[in-house]
Amino acid sequence: MKYKDTISFIRSLYPDKDFIPLHEPYFAGNEKKYLADCIDTTFVSSVGKYVDRFEEMVKEYTGAKYAIATVNGTAALHIALLLAGVQPGDLVITQPLTFIATCNAISYCGAKPVFVDVDPDTMGMSPESLECWLTENVEVVSLNSFELADVQPDAAFSTGRSPLNRAQPTQQDEVRSTRRSIQPSSLIAVHKTLRRPISACVPMHTFGHPCHIDKIVEICARYHIPVVEDSAESLGSYYKDRHTGTFGKLGILSFNGNKTITTGGGGMVLTDDEHLGPLAKHITTTAKKPHPWKFEHDMVGYNYRLPNVNAALGCAQMEILETILANKRETAMRYQEFFAGIPDIQYRTEPAQSISNFWLNVILLKDHIQQELFLKETNANKVMTRPAWRLMSELEMFKNSICGDLSISKEIADRLVNIPSSCRVE
Ligand SMILES: Cc1ncc(COP(=O)(O)O)c(C=O)c1O
Repeated sequence: MKYKDTISFIRSLYPDKDFIPLHEPYFAGNEKKYLADCIDTTFVSSVGKYVDRFEEMVKEYTGAKYAIATVNGTAALHIALLLAGVQPGDLVITQPLTFIATCNAISYCGAKPVFVDVDPDTMGMSPESLECWLTENVEVVSLNSFELADVQPDAAFSTGRSPLNRAQPTQQDEVRSTRRSIQPSSLIAVHKTLRRPISACVPMHTFGHPCHIDKIVEICARYHIPVVEDSAESLGSYYKDRHTGTFGKLGILSFNGNKTITTGGGGMVLTDDEHLGPLAKHITTTAKKPHPWKFEHDMVGYNYRLPNVNAALGCAQMEILETILANKRETAMRYQEFFAGIPDIQYRTEPAQSISNFWLNVILLKDHIQQELFLKETNANKVMTRPAWRLMSELEMFKNSICGDLSISKEIADRLVNIPSSCRVE
């Protein structure tokens, strides 16, 4: 067995496990106590003290002005994209090396993804690849001079109009007014030949390692493109001392069971925007007008609010987040040291000027054949390992998408393996 030593090393990190999962939740604080409190008080649903408390804790921890808890990270992304002004028929730039939720949320808005490459050091969106694609394909035009005929969505692709349009003006008025609220300059980026707006850019902090987000935000600002950071995997990760998810117009987090901390299922929208923060809360809570007993709604909203029972878990998990991060960092350092002595396996540590949460540890095998062999041997020996997601640009639904040069993404996908990364209980 070629990878026997690596399997033994991973087993030594998790000595009391027969089957070693990739990432399992770590409950070591007040989880049971807070859950029991929800049941005792009957506040298990979308109203309750834990939802507000959880939002406060995440706000304080990340430094975002607004944090709005949602049922999962995908719902948070959907809302963030709508608030960024994404409309049916638009194009949204993202990376092919991501989880399907990124592209699903773009599709829920009736928009289409455009794929640019990732960087080899961060595995997140490459600012160079982004800039290159924008230079070749995009121009900035005045919103007023932009013709409606250019933004008609494909009938088969559209999922309907954005709920942000309260009245029923013409479609062109809707497109303009939504965009104007977030782009007061009235300039938008448009694909030169397709004449479709590029209404958002969604970089992702892959496996918890921050991408070069400041450069991405700077490039997008020149093109008047709002950035929605998919920081689903990067709670506890910082770029240049600032928490991921707080660089763009909006960011999102996920608290799915496999994440650094979990609420069972859950997500969060982050923003500093005084208008979009309250609006995010409004449309994730069915757009109900506040009133002690009357039910009145002023727009089409979503039932996306995180239930109290999930938020209770979130509060307890936030209390032990630092312990979890320190534990995961120590594991990462041990992996780094071990793989330094293994030929043909590269361990991916945190990129420069970053603090990573080391959500899922990453190694790169020599080539695709070795990747397959490593996956086979480890999984056969009850050590769970996984390749990266199949590139989004290769999936049936997105295979005809517009793409830049994706050679780094392809190389990474061919060689990458995630190795067990759960908190180690000592
Ligand atoms: C990159 C990325 N985006 C979005 C999501 C969606 O989060 P959720 O599973 O909470 O819907 C996830 C994780 O699951 C993710 O890894």
